Amino acid sequence: MSDALTLQARALAESASRDLHEASGEAELARVKSSYLGKGGSISALLKQIPTLDPEQRRGAGSAINEAKKKVEALFVERRAAIKDEALGASAGHVDVTLPGRLDWQGHEHPVTRAWNEITDIFVSMGFTIAEGPEVETDWHCFTALNIPPGHPAREMQDTFYVDDNVVLRTHTSPVQVRTMLHNDPPLRVICPGVVYRRDNDITHTPMFHQVEGLVVDQGTTMAELRGTLAAFARAFFGPKTKVRFRPSYFPFTEPSAEVDVSCPFCEDRTIGCRVCKDTRWLEVLGSGMVDPAVFDQIDRPEYDSRVVQGFAFGMGIDRMAMLKYGIGDLRLLFENDQRLLEQF
Ligand code: DAH
Repeated sequence: MSDALTLQARALAESASRDLHEASGEAELARVKSSYLGKGGSISALLKQIPTLDPEQRRGAGSAINEAKKKVEALFVERRAAIKDEALGASAGHVDVTLPGRLDWQGHEHPVTRAWNEITDIFVSMGFTIAEGPEVETDWHCFTALNIPPGHPAREMQDTFYVDDNVVLRTHTSPVQVRTMLHNDPPLRVICPGVVYRRDNDITHTPMFHQVEGLVVDQGTTMAELRGTLAAFARAFFGPKTKVRFRPSYFPFTEPSAEVDVSCPFCEDRTIGCRVCKDTRWLEVLGSGMVDPAVFDQIDRPEYDSRVVQGFAFGMGIDRMAMLKYGIGDLRLLFENDQRLLEQF
């Protein structure tokens, strides 16, 4: 009896091995295994007979049946791994078009660059051309030619970075007006974006910042044209509902001069608590005015006879425009390059 069981167990192990090798998929493999080791499986049936044997016979037959069971289990695991590998190997070299793609990381413009481009684009669309000038500038271009007299605070050491007695880091982009008139004939319509420097550093001032200067020179140019141009700009930049107001002001290089305010774009549906305009409803955005004839007189060219040509000019801080448009509370944030801020744009 026990010898017969032993032989049966070995025969079953052998046939199981054949069947497992022939099984072609995971499901078939599981079926084969269960036909030997499952509840009604043939090896399981032998195992059930062990308790009926004499104690001396039990050992020999028991170990043969258990051996058969272990063999089948081990072969099952081995074959299952092999079948998985085959399936993977078959798909190697094929592209799974259903996988989500890997997106390229995209950089983007710094908010100051964005404001710079938006501002220049608007003026270019109105027919302005772009002019540039040096950041290291002579005292004459930066101050004297713009009717900024000696003793004016803008010329003082505590406000201006001096390179030597007659050379400064430009404190505004207005000297590009002078350079443009020295080298180009009227009619003129230019904007001059650029970097400027002042000895200042607090929540609303940084020692380096950006400005855009504008200059229009022609015959018959009027204050009405200045107002129309700047109002159109403000609506293009801040939105079509923007209101614009002009306040009398003073700049040495313009006469008359006006400061331009726009209605606060953050106040639309708020009646109280605007942190941008502090509930004044207006934001000061730029300085402007009709070119002072004294500036034309500094340009030693007959084309700029102050009795014949008129013009208007304006200047604005690009960083300030970016802060106002994008709601950034501290100017210095624009120069810290903190990714947590920059990634929001
Ligand atoms: N240059 C002035 C500044 O830096 C800005 C400015 C005001 C420019 C009025 C102008 C102007 O051309 O007309 O504050």
